[in-house]
Amino acid sequence: MEKEGNNGAAENGIKIPEIKFTQLFINGSFVDSVSGRCYETRDPRTGEVLASVAEGDKADVDLAVAAARQAFDHGKWPRMSGYERAEIMIRFADLIEQHRDELAALECLDAGKLFSMANIIDLETSIRTIRYYAGAADKIHGETLKMSRELQGYTLKEPIGVVGHIIPWNFPSIMFAIKVAPALAAGCTTVVKPAELTPLTALYYAYLAHKAGIPEGVINVVTGFGPTAGAAIASHMDIDMVSFTGSTAVGRFVMEAAAKSNLKPVSLELGGKSPLVIFDDADIDKAVDIARDATFFNNGEACIAASRIFVQEGIYDQFVQRLAERMKSWVVGDPFDPRVQQGPQVDKVQYEKILQYIEHGKREGATLLTGGKPCGKRGYYIEPAVFTDVKDDMLIAQDEIFGPVMSVMKFKTTEEAIERANNTRYGLAAGVITKDIDTVNRLTRSIRAGLIWVNCYFEMDADLSFGGFKISGFGKDSGLDALNKYMHVKSVVMPIYNTPWL
Ligand code: NAI
Ligand code: MG
Repeated sequence: MEKEGNNGAAENGIKIPEIKFTQLFINGSFVDSVSGRCYETRDPRTGEVLASVAEGDKADVDLAVAAARQAFDHGKWPRMSGYERAEIMIRFADLIEQHRDELAALECLDAGKLFSMANIIDLETSIRTIRYYAGAADKIHGETLKMSRELQGYTLKEPIGVVGHIIPWNFPSIMFAIKVAPALAAGCTTVVKPAELTPLTALYYAYLAHKAGIPEGVINVVTGFGPTAGAAIASHMDIDMVSFTGSTAVGRFVMEAAAKSNLKPVSLELGGKSPLVIFDDADIDKAVDIARDATFFNNGEACIAASRIFVQEGIYDQFVQRLAERMKSWVVGDPFDPRVQQGPQVDKVQYEKILQYIEHGKREGATLLTGGKPCGKRGYYIEPAVFTDVKDDMLIAQDEIFGPVMSVMKFKTTEEAIERANNTRYGLAAGVITKDIDTVNRLTRSIRAGLIWVNCYFEMDADLSFGGFKISGFGKDSGLDALNKYMHVKSVVMPIYNTPWL
């Protein structure tokens, strides 16, 4: 199935890979969609068509679910020992490692990610995540209970079944790994729907998983659109659980569809509007760098991005001045160029949405300190925007923009910082910068968010539980919590002795 050769093109010395996989992956084979339809995925650097990809919809989801159901109900995967599953998963991770540069380049082409970042962050995280869950696959155990003098009980942790994974476009590789790897370790089978904007790496992962020895039907990938393929997963009667990452609006829809169909459990990771609170005692230069990276990393397309920067009044003016200075050296451009810090936004829709928010911020009376304009002759490039004089109730301080837009706000007291940091419907992440341990403890305990960084930002690990509060959703990705979410707990009760009255 793997085509040979490479078209030989290169960007900044990086080989531009040939696109090998564009069909759906169902039951161990690449197949066309039932309808025969395809759609185009575009290169955000130019807006030009990158590949024509199979457009799966309900009929294809049905086939994928049937394959996953068969593999779960009758196949080897859930019945293997954890150790055997781990061995195969490690081979899968090794194969990804072998194709690492190619996969990183595909991420750049499809999502506009920086090649260097895609390689050292996205691919590295994906490989580590699969190895981490491989390591956990043979350490799944329940509990024993002494219930009474006559009775004992124990719990079995069993794979939840066929899982539907609906994933977004901002971290296509990481999302694939953090969703699929714990489900695989638990013994589940899966139907993955990558985002329509970034289908290419998921298809490649399906191929590598198959090559590593993951049996047919265990991983199925249906590329296609949300309202058709995605919705078919959310409402499917034969899917036992759905794990979703994306917008809050679609998260609500997924939960509703789950409730209205077979009441499958859902896990939702729905973005954020995360605060970063910087106190007077902070090292200003370090704080500027943390804030800049916390907002603009991955082109600002990160659910955990710190888009509300609260700075205490004693250092506010200096902070703003140094930030403006620091932004002058920020480079926007081709993601294959190693000097570049920010590539294009993922598509025209996101690009236009971000520019509208910037216009709205200006109209609302915030001061645009730097950037905020389209740049480049083609493609979806935006100069990173820094707004000051932002009020908490402005739209730019309330909505998840998902682009390179920072809002800087001034605060006086710790109480005020806590209240304002929490003044959001979201609760995914937060950051605190201070040397004062009392302040650290107060903020980490008072901010309602699933992940809080102190004197750093964006640091993640496969072992770190990750998921939000409030409208950022519920259910954890990463860490052992994610493994547990793909398992049922079954309780078994039995007499200790052969008691005659039982
Ligand atoms: P989205 O929520 O529409 O897309 C995420 C995934 O859900 C994609 O695979 C999509 O095909 C699928 N989907 C869409 N409609 C569906 C439906 N009716 N049923 C089932 N699945 C469906 O996100 P979109 O439109 O690409 O981005 C819009 C905004 O969402 C962004 O600007 C950002 O604010 C937020 N977002 C948050 C992410 C996060 O990491 N939490 C990731 C991507 C987007
Ligand atoms: Mg959408």
